Amino acid sequence: LLVTWRVAVLSLHVLHRLFFPFFLKDLLFLLKVLRYGAQLELSGVTRTVRTVLQRFIQQAQRVPDKPFIIYDGRVHTYRDVDARSNKLAHVFRDSVGLRRGACVALLMSNEPDFVCAWLGLSKAGCSVAFLNINIRTKGLLHCFHCCGASTIVIGADMVECLEPILSSLLEDDIQVWVMKAHSDHPQVHTLLDKLESASDQPVPAALHATSSLRAPTLYIFTSGTTGLPKAAVITHLQSLKAAAGFWAFGAKSDDVVYIPLPLYHSAASLIGVGGTIHLGATCVLKKKFSASQFWQDCRTHNVTIFQYIGELCRYLCNQPQVNMEKVHKVRMGVGNGLRQDVWREFLSRFGNIKMCEVYGSTEGNLCFMNHIGKIGAVGRSNFFYRLLFKYDLVKFDMVMDDLVKDQRGFCQHVETGHTGLLLSKVSSTSPFFGYVGSKHLTERKILRNVLVKGDAYFNTGDLMVEDHQGFIYFRDRVGDTFRWKGENVATTEVSEALGLVDFIQEVNVYGVEVPDHEGRAGMAAITLRPGFTFDGRKLFHHAVRELPAYARPLFIRLQEEMEITSTFKQQKFQLVQSGFNPSTISDPLYVVDNDQRSYVPLTADKYSTIICGNHKL
Ligand SMILES: *[C@@H]1O[C@H](CO)[C@@H](O)[C@H](O)[C@H]1NC(C)=O
Repeated sequence: LLVTWRVAVLSLHVLHRLFFPFFLKDLLFLLKVLRYGAQLELSGVTRTVRTVLQRFIQQAQRVPDKPFIIYDGRVHTYRDVDARSNKLAHVFRDSVGLRRGACVALLMSNEPDFVCAWLGLSKAGCSVAFLNINIRTKGLLHCFHCCGASTIVIGADMVECLEPILSSLLEDDIQVWVMKAHSDHPQVHTLLDKLESASDQPVPAALHATSSLRAPTLYIFTSGTTGLPKAAVITHLQSLKAAAGFWAFGAKSDDVVYIPLPLYHSAASLIGVGGTIHLGATCVLKKKFSASQFWQDCRTHNVTIFQYIGELCRYLCNQPQVNMEKVHKVRMGVGNGLRQDVWREFLSRFGNIKMCEVYGSTEGNLCFMNHIGKIGAVGRSNFFYRLLFKYDLVKFDMVMDDLVKDQRGFCQHVETGHTGLLLSKVSSTSPFFGYVGSKHLTERKILRNVLVKGDAYFNTGDLMVEDHQGFIYFRDRVGDTFRWKGENVATTEVSEALGLVDFIQEVNVYGVEVPDHEGRAGMAAITLRPGFTFDGRKLFHHAVRELPAYARPLFIRLQEEMEITSTFKQQKFQLVQSGFNPSTISDPLYVVDNDQRSYVPLTADKYSTIICGNHKL
């Protein structure tokens, strides 16, 4: 007996050492998430899958008069949105002629009709591809081709984006429908006039019934590591998991969620709107984030949870201090990219708000959640978590821009507390659904024979650290993407676009850090074609035409010769390190000037105004 006791005490001690002081919190959180995951999987096995759409329909029956979306001061109840999406589903079937299984592209900014169109299309049995509203002509056409959509639904305020691409769309036999009652163009069809006479009764449930968790329901475009945006396949499984995010962090049906992020990203649509539906809660939707309106909005609508990206919290901290700023009911923020210094300041300014960082890419098969609220950490791992999710941090050489391998060609784990590249094992329990269209694109994100022969890992492209307590911290991105203004910028996409300018011979795009800014500012090192000179105005106009605002390089560095690494990749590391300081860089530097609509020489004076934050980037 004594021995048994000793063993028990000893193992308790070991457990305590392992998990202290977060043991209970970790356990409860994990049990909650696991139970939900098990229920999901079970529904897949028993073919009783209840999708986010079906959950919405159920909520509309349960709490029809509850506000679902508050937008611009107007309340849209669950009943309202259910009825309007029914009407839209009828119009999509009867007037547009859409059938179950079709894919439809949606180009809309944040408004309640984004949600109504999304739900309406889902009710009609269609999958929906959310298009980034910042996207330019070339990228937009590409998006159609890769998700196979033959119909596009456009918001009323997006019609002017249509002009430059309309003829190409029509050439490709793409049907164009706008959320308007009248259209000046004979081939642009209208939806709203047909809505009035449409029935608000449900379409047959068989149209949207599914028995498979792994059936695609959405396509969300992500700026991948190569070339133009890629359509990530979102299955019911992923959207159901994302919809449980708020709930996992402890949200309830009486919470009010503030959504200032764009709905075409997975954070606002899957976690935000999906999460609101899952809870049967209310969301306050904003067309655009406004730092000056934020707290007033929160007070007016009794907001309790808000979604953020790191930049957003920084903008809030940059607002002048006022007396009322701790007077609100916000108790939780859910988002990504909050840096330690901003996090601390945010809490001291605006009170005790639990900030829940979520790490995970739209298409990735791994997700970390910092449910403890530990400042600076993007996620939390522990003994249990590692049993369930097979991820590894492996050694990566920043200078060579490559994995560090041993003699046998395998990757090497980093030690606890050291930075490594985050890889996530691809298996049947954490599948990677990949991108549509090209197997090649999917395969590029997968690394094989990483630690043993025959294994496969999803390459997140993120450098991370895990500390001794199991907290996970983001360090940097490797390779070909960086983040700016909450969007991923694919350096190859920018390089391809700039490479079309006549005076440019070679382009190397990378991101540089700017004090007091999240992410990295785009910079392009270029070499000139023999006999040509640099023309800042021409480059500016080209960039505006071809690239979304967040992807346009802010700085240009003129080089005599492009450096490459010993493995024949463009040398980025040293360029990134040397930044954009004209007093330490001998190459000519230019900075974008939106007033002069040109790239102008970056002088020491300009540089210091940027560093002091007096020059808006
Ligand atoms: C917000 O809460 C206060 C106090 O609980 C209440 O009086 C007010 O009506 C609420 N406002 C809204 C928009 O629900």
